[in-house]
Amino acid sequence: MSVGIGRERQFEIYVSGARGAYPTVPVGDERLEAAARRSMSPEGYAYIAGGAGNEETMRENRAAFERWRIVPRMLRDVSVRDTTVEILGTRLPSPFVLCPIGVLEMAHRDADVAVGRGAASEGIPYVFSNQASRPMEEVAAAMGDAPRWFQLYWSTSNELVESLVARAERCGCSAIVLTLDTTMLGWRIRDLDLAYLPFLRGKGIAQYTSDPVFLEALQETLRQEAPPSGRVTLSAIGTLLSQAHAFPGPRLAALRSGLARAAVRRFVETYSRPSLSWDDLGFLRERTRLPILLKGILHPADATAAIEHGMDGIVVSNHGGRQVDGAVATMDALPPILEAVGGRIPVVLDSGVRTGADIFRALALGAAAVGLGRPYVWGLAAAGEEGVREVIRNYRADFDLTLGLAGLASARDIGRENVTRV
Ligand SMILES: Cc1cc2nc3c(=O)[nH]c(=O)nc-3n(C[C@H](O)[C@H](O)[C@H](O)COP(=O)(O)O)c2cc1C
Repeated sequence: MSVGIGRERQFEIYVSGARGAYPTVPVGDERLEAAARRSMSPEGYAYIAGGAGNEETMRENRAAFERWRIVPRMLRDVSVRDTTVEILGTRLPSPFVLCPIGVLEMAHRDADVAVGRGAASEGIPYVFSNQASRPMEEVAAAMGDAPRWFQLYWSTSNELVESLVARAERCGCSAIVLTLDTTMLGWRIRDLDLAYLPFLRGKGIAQYTSDPVFLEALQETLRQEAPPSGRVTLSAIGTLLSQAHAFPGPRLAALRSGLARAAVRRFVETYSRPSLSWDDLGFLRERTRLPILLKGILHPADATAAIEHGMDGIVVSNHGGRQVDGAVATMDALPPILEAVGGRIPVVLDSGVRTGADIFRALALGAAAVGLGRPYVWGLAAAGEEGVREVIRNYRADFDLTLGLAGLASARDIGRENVTRV
């Protein structure tokens, strides 16, 4: 009989230690981030670690988890534990998915492919980012039959939206996560001080440069493209090379044709759609039979509106504190949202999940599952695919042990009575 993933993982680490081998991917969150930082550029690290403004919301996300305390129960036979949950027809071996995170090439050259492989080996769903560094087809091919969802940004082109969704369906994605909170980029001070936005270097736009609709529109941009003007500096040349490097096909051809530079310009024109409103959702609803989750919901009235507009789930998220500084922490936003939703659709939570106890606490309040964000990117930066796998296994183990030690044998039995607010 299995002792469960928590005890297996502990023994694995301790037994290795007894033989003199220590975890290459640190278990502790802060040490993990420090290890990742050592292998990244200052710009890459700032982009991933940073939030909006003074990063108050990032800190508040953590503080809000810590205000809820688990109240363990004793003598309840927890020798066999079931950590699985089901959401929108996807079975999760542990109650979390990997959040959509863009521009992963800044963490590791294998980027989204390494994450896809790591997630697939553990059966944890991976939400492909619209700002990925690798086309979704490539990541899907590396994942076999493992579960995956697609995260969509609604650009100024409805044809592009339609094309991306159709590609996601063909890639075996079983849900669409429409992110609503990033119609513009938040005021991110770390990136502003470094004057660095990865997209302008051609990074994080692989879903666009692999899309037939985008590529066709690109020809139009190319026709209007003025030749580069201004002083030729080393930085400007570096940017051109970086753009060409990111564009599919031979680098020199992308440079000569001007396609790489035009792709970045076209992306900038296309990406943002601040005019998006509730009425637009019908367009998406009509174009896919897949379940749609709205990501970035923080107000109960928006949660109710999501249901009224035929949406199948929501993700309570403040984008890891990267959009509105001073925004409500997700664990504070969750209870009134759950009350408004009344069990009609599943509610996922992300932003600030850093331990198995956090997963437990979110489930105790009524979340169906959580999204794991930055920690898996640190694993990726520290050790590629293996690093992602290690981080996933650690979270699965931590959650399994927390569940059992709290006196519960099944993740589905976690409830409000298992936590108290301090
Ligand atoms: C570097 C970075 C890039 C991100 N890119 C995306 C993205 O492309 N699409 C999206 O919906 N959310 C994106 N997010 C937000 C995550 O999906 C998630 O909401 C957030 O990371 C949760 O916060 P946490 O990482 O602090 O736990 C990004 C977050 C980070 C840190």
